[in-house]
Amino acid sequence: MKTIILLSVAVCLVIATVIAESNSKQQPWMNKKLDPKNRARALMNQMTAEEKKGMLYGYGCQSKEWPYVGNVAAIPRLNIPSLKYNDGPQGFRDDAIPGSTTAWPSGLTAAASWQRETLQAWGEGMGKEFYLKGANVQLGPGVCVARIPRNGRNFEYLSGEDPFLGYVLVQDAINGIQSQQVVANAKHYVNNNQETNRGSVSENVDERTRFEMYYPPFVGAIEANVGSMMCSYNKINHVYSCENNGTLMTDLKVRMGFDGYVMSDWGATHSLSIEQGLDQEMPSNNFFNQTSLDSKPQHAIDDSVVRILTGFFAVGVMDKPNPNQISSNVTSIEQNDIAQKISENSTILLKNVNEALPLQKTNLKVVVVGAQSWQPVVHGGGSGQVVPAWVKPPLWSICDMLGVDRIDPSTGTLSKCSSDNGNCVTYNDGSQNPPGTASKDYNVAILFIQTSSSEGSDRPNLSFANGQDQYTTNWGQVKGNSFRKVLVMSTPGAVLTPWADGMDSILLNFMPGQAMGDAITNVLFGEVNPSGKLPLTFPNKENEQEMTVAQYPGLQNGENATYSEGFFFGYRWYDKHKVTPKFSFGHGLSYTTFSYGKLSIDGRTVSVDLTNTGKVDGAEVVQLYVGFGDQKFGPDQREEPVKQLKGFEKYYLSPGESITATFTLTDRDLSYWNVDSKSWSLKVGKADISVGSSSSDIRSNGVMNVQ
Ligand code: BGC
Repeated sequence: MKTIILLSVAVCLVIATVIAESNSKQQPWMNKKLDPKNRARALMNQMTAEEKKGMLYGYGCQSKEWPYVGNVAAIPRLNIPSLKYNDGPQGFRDDAIPGSTTAWPSGLTAAASWQRETLQAWGEGMGKEFYLKGANVQLGPGVCVARIPRNGRNFEYLSGEDPFLGYVLVQDAINGIQSQQVVANAKHYVNNNQETNRGSVSENVDERTRFEMYYPPFVGAIEANVGSMMCSYNKINHVYSCENNGTLMTDLKVRMGFDGYVMSDWGATHSLSIEQGLDQEMPSNNFFNQTSLDSKPQHAIDDSVVRILTGFFAVGVMDKPNPNQISSNVTSIEQNDIAQKISENSTILLKNVNEALPLQKTNLKVVVVGAQSWQPVVHGGGSGQVVPAWVKPPLWSICDMLGVDRIDPSTGTLSKCSSDNGNCVTYNDGSQNPPGTASKDYNVAILFIQTSSSEGSDRPNLSFANGQDQYTTNWGQVKGNSFRKVLVMSTPGAVLTPWADGMDSILLNFMPGQAMGDAITNVLFGEVNPSGKLPLTFPNKENEQEMTVAQYPGLQNGENATYSEGFFFGYRWYDKHKVTPKFSFGHGLSYTTFSYGKLSIDGRTVSVDLTNTGKVDGAEVVQLYVGFGDQKFGPDQREEPVKQLKGFEKYYLSPGESITATFTLTDRDLSYWNVDSKSWSLKVGKADISVGSSSSDIRSNGVMNVQ
């Protein structure tokens, strides 16, 4: 009897589903042949006034009724699901069930790969987990350009300090996320470049600087069909970002042609600014609500609703219900392995004298120094934080690689040797002084140091805390010819490295995510040849770019940040002032070497031969920079940067193998933003083309006639 009842219930359910599906298929908005915008418009036309207004505000946050960080009510009558937003830019943040998702490498780490495929894999990997958690919007990627080295959120952003790098990489990240039936969200639009006083500071930026330096990553997002953007907490030119008609309506929606929707950052709405370009208040209805919106023209409300729905149609949310629940555990060994590969592809070898790396796997007496090797910090803080279930300590990865039983400092076991391969591993948390001479005890010291940062505040300085700079200096002074000193640092951005001369090798992985242990060990021992490049400049000293309090009121708590430097921050500043940074933008070594041939320039196409001249397989990122000498362009006759990145590509080559790297420059690559015509104008003249291995290691030059 029970079986018969169950069977008939099941049959009824199937019939109901089929009827519902065929009904909805007859609806014009379910016609997949129409483009997403037309489908969105058709659906919007069926909505009541209340239903439309209901899409323009949301609810937070992580309650039983509204389980995601942001939620917009469903409209079951029209099969519109609840919009479910969750942080963040480096994976699904689940504070209720930490460890149920993967802690991915941060945006800055992924950017250090300088590789589009890596960003695609990163986006796909994260998007998959958002889908499996039932979400349909990922509040990421973060794409702001790193103007201020101490900005507490630099680790989240995939642009580093260069607009072109961000413009290219954001596209693959978004394609990856949106391939998983999840709408991406490019944030924080715009000039959210310091965390101190982020809710009140006015970022005062002229139009040309905005278009050339800060908008390009958002333009890349638009070109990749990003469904949504988030306006930021700060003001731009004294007007709050989320009610700034100039940046939202004129620049973003009209000039850049963004036809997705703008949601506010959490609590960043200050008025009912729908006509200024804000489409949705998050995560509340203080300004955008059923009553207030009645005062606004219907066409503005309709436009916002269409913008919101378009992205959901585009990625398939409206065609296939997502059955998943937020309570699911969505991380896995496979996901961890992808996170590991991304971290490996993004690890940067900053220094490597006398081939100190890679390390051999036999007869190695290694001392591993620093708590970071035992309890590593792998992510930054704030809404972008994802707490991993567990992080395999690099100390254990090293023991495993060397066939030595795992040391467990928590039980006081600090040293072990293998009985058959001559390897020994010793742990030192940094509190014990290094020996005066190390030749008898160890062949190598591997030091692990870290510093992190968080949303909501800027870093007080670019140093390492807790005595790490000191013990790194001390270990750097240990004598012994056969003794190598290798440093691994995990940082949220640029840091000072006053002890660098004492180290033979330096590796950097920014905020590397949960698979850091095995990833860095594979690099240390040459299982993976490092190929990451710096997405931002490492300075010699604090505030090397001499920003005044007026430019960066960060730690002074000022209310205005004036971008009087224009284009000249990061490597553009170092080039202009002929200052050699500690480590240059684009820098990153390999265990092999590469030679570059002569440049050939044919019209807009630049080619150069690249050969692996070393002994092992490896990858090089060929970088193309363009400069215009002392020519000046535009009504404002601005000084041009010495060079600007306009092309890059990573090539994997075996020893002796060559490839021709070819780049074709577009009009946009060779244009300036014309503040009179409000459009891009070609820089007609002679362009200096430089191709090389970093911004300060140019291997081949030529001149292009731009006409
Ligand atoms: C952050 C956003 C985040 C939002 C929701 C804000 O504080 O700036 O990046 O997506 O919170 O958690």
